Amino acid sequence: MNHPSPIKLVIDRATKHYETRTGRVHALDNVSLHVGHHEFVSLVGPSGCGKSTLLWSMAGLHDLTSGEIRLDGVPIHGPNPNIGMIFQDANLLPWRSIQKNLEFPFEISGKQADRQRLTDLMERVGLGAFGSKMPRELSGGMQQRASIVRALSFDPSVLLMDEPFGALDAFTRDEMNMLVEEIWLETRKTIVFITHSIPEAVFLSDKVHVMSARPGRLAKTFTIDFPRPRALDIMETREFFDVVNTIKAEIQHQPASPRTAQAGATQ
Ligand SMILES: Nc1ncnc2c1ncn2[C@@H]1O[C@H](COP(=O)(O)OP(=O)(O)O)[C@@H](O)[C@H]1O
Ligand SMILES: [Mg+2]
Repeated sequence: MNHPSPIKLVIDRATKHYETRTGRVHALDNVSLHVGHHEFVSLVGPSGCGKSTLLWSMAGLHDLTSGEIRLDGVPIHGPNPNIGMIFQDANLLPWRSIQKNLEFPFEISGKQADRQRLTDLMERVGLGAFGSKMPRELSGGMQQRASIVRALSFDPSVLLMDEPFGALDAFTRDEMNMLVEEIWLETRKTIVFITHSIPEAVFLSDKVHVMSARPGRLAKTFTIDFPRPRALDIMETREFFDVVNTIKAEIQHQPASPRTAQAGATQ
């Protein structure tokens, strides 16, 4: 396939300061990395190291203090329909059915909802029979399936996922990881995925980028070359265990963030 730029996403010396009542927070310092077309990368690192800050900048939801992020060679300065986002909370409107929730982004952007595409996507993620249900009638995992459909509904080329399965039980999380891998293999989206779970990052990713604590910097990149498609039982192998432990050791080696260090960072 021909692409206008050889790299899908270029993060070029991204630096971010937040001005707060109690002073300036240096959240990101000079982070540079490239994400290739169709690549699946994870960002891991201690709590407060700037992962969400970086992802929000990629989504055009806030500006950097300095540096630049380019999508297909074009600087990002605001929300872009080519980028879909998925958060830990599915953020469904409680008073609307799942179907109506999925149509909502089309309504607010004044576009005709592509009902066939929505129906196909709902079928694909196992929500086919749930369109008329209200969000409260769905489990957390099913709600996250709806938020995956919502993110894919505009057919973005990039998916940004911020700890999407952090609130789910281990079994549901495994199911969601399989679903994400399958969708990624089918659609060839470019995915940037944030997680606190190193096994999840290793299972899903082509590359795992480890960030250091505040100010967030890129500490080390690990290339993960387990063959695809990957089945959950690779997590039981010695090789998988060794990669996970090497990455955990790298994170523990990072100095803790002064205000936000948490033991949970390397779960
Ligand atoms: N809107 C904000 N205003 C001020 N400080 C913020 C804001 N958002 C994040 N921060 C601070 O920036 C640092 C990085 O935060 P964040 O990107 O959320 O980290 P992570 O996602 O890795 O846990 C933290 O110290 C956090 O307290
Ligand atoms: Mg975060």
